[in-house]
Amino acid sequence: MSLKILTIVGARPQFVKAATVSRLIKERTDIAERLVHTGQHYDYGMSDVFFSELDIPTPHYNLGVGSASQGRQTGEMLIRIEDVLLKESPDRVLVYGDTNSTLAGALAAAKLRIPVAHVEAGLRSFNRVMPEEINRIITDHISDLLFAPTVGATRQLIHEGIPAAAIHQVGDVMFDAALYYAGRGESHSLLLLDKLGLRSEGFILATVHRAENTDCVDRLSSIIGGLTDLSELLPVVFPLHPRTRRAIERLGLLEAVRQSLLVIEPVGYRDMTILEKHAKAVVTDSGGVQKEAFFFRTPCITLRDETEWGELVEYGYNCLVGADRERIVAAFKSFVSAARCWDRELFGTGTAAAEIVRLLSS
Ligand code: UD1
Ligand code: UDP
Repeated sequence: MSLKILTIVGARPQFVKAATVSRLIKERTDIAERLVHTGQHYDYGMSDVFFSELDIPTPHYNLGVGSASQGRQTGEMLIRIEDVLLKESPDRVLVYGDTNSTLAGALAAAKLRIPVAHVEAGLRSFNRVMPEEINRIITDHISDLLFAPTVGATRQLIHEGIPAAAIHQVGDVMFDAALYYAGRGESHSLLLLDKLGLRSEGFILATVHRAENTDCVDRLSSIIGGLTDLSELLPVVFPLHPRTRRAIERLGLLEAVRQSLLVIEPVGYRDMTILEKHAKAVVTDSGGVQKEAFFFRTPCITLRDETEWGELVEYGYNCLVGADRERIVAAFKSFVSAARCWDRELFGTGTAAAEIVRLLSS
């Protein structure tokens, strides 16, 4: 009898992560995957584009939960996921990362005593103001199989008392994704640079979406100020997350931002990786984009006070500047041009997804 895995995704970064594992499961006749999309992200550019570009199978269920407050969104997911689990009775539930979809999936499964496997376990920012930090801690502590991407993540799980036998340091599935998907369609995506009138190393790529930045007027205003200052040095391309668009609109600054930054809609994964690869620097508060900047050897300035990906800061690939206008500009002027060796293997060797599939079925 084949092993039945039920995978739960819902937000943009999870589509990228799940693509790597789903692709390998498809090659196995002894494993069947059922895919559940919670509906946390639903715009074409935040969801469907990833399914088509990364060849992810159409989800068996789309729970259509949509946007709401933290508790309401997570609660709706919990209710709807439980119904699916009762119907499907999977052998294992597989969750990714640290979003509300991750927490709801893990919690619904754990309460039904279905073993939970968590990809990207052990990450900590040590900042419990972030909803993601709560999601990470709870998900790790109710998971049965924990796939840690880095040495630091493994250490943290041991430190928190998780049994060593449950932890597997497999590397990072986003590195697998970068190796497998990023080069495909490069020529198509290079057209994007032409379309935007950009040349390689001749622009800065910025993304902002963390609640701690978008939902605090002072922080958001200061970040916009910093990006505007940078735009006097090089064009700043700014694919705008819908949360951030709304926050900037609320401040009445969208038109001003459009005047100084190259504001574009969120792009698909292929276009994004082209932008990351060819940018002079990446300025972001995204977890995934910090790592991808490293994969593509682009220095990263991070708009946060701390990061789960401490290795990147420790080895000089990433520089934390908070939401400080002056520090954003200073980092671009000094940190970006510093010499660095890009050869470290911080995130495995590109075999994380294969290891995960092997361990899920062993
Ligand atoms: C979520 C995750 C975050 C992750 C991010 C990836 C949580 C707590 N947060 O944050 O960890 O880094 O996804 O992008 O799970 N919206 C749209 N269309 C969409 C999706 C969202 O308009 O397709 C707007 C809605 O106004 C919504 C807001 O964006 O209220 C925020 O969406 P939500 O999924 O709640 O949080 P993210 O900020 O996207
Ligand atoms: N991404 C994308 N288009 C965009 C912005 C991000 O394809 O306009 C990809 C990015 O390359 C990475 C993932 O989305 O693979 C990161 O997601 P996000 O920044 O939304 O969330 P986080 O990683 O912070 O949870």
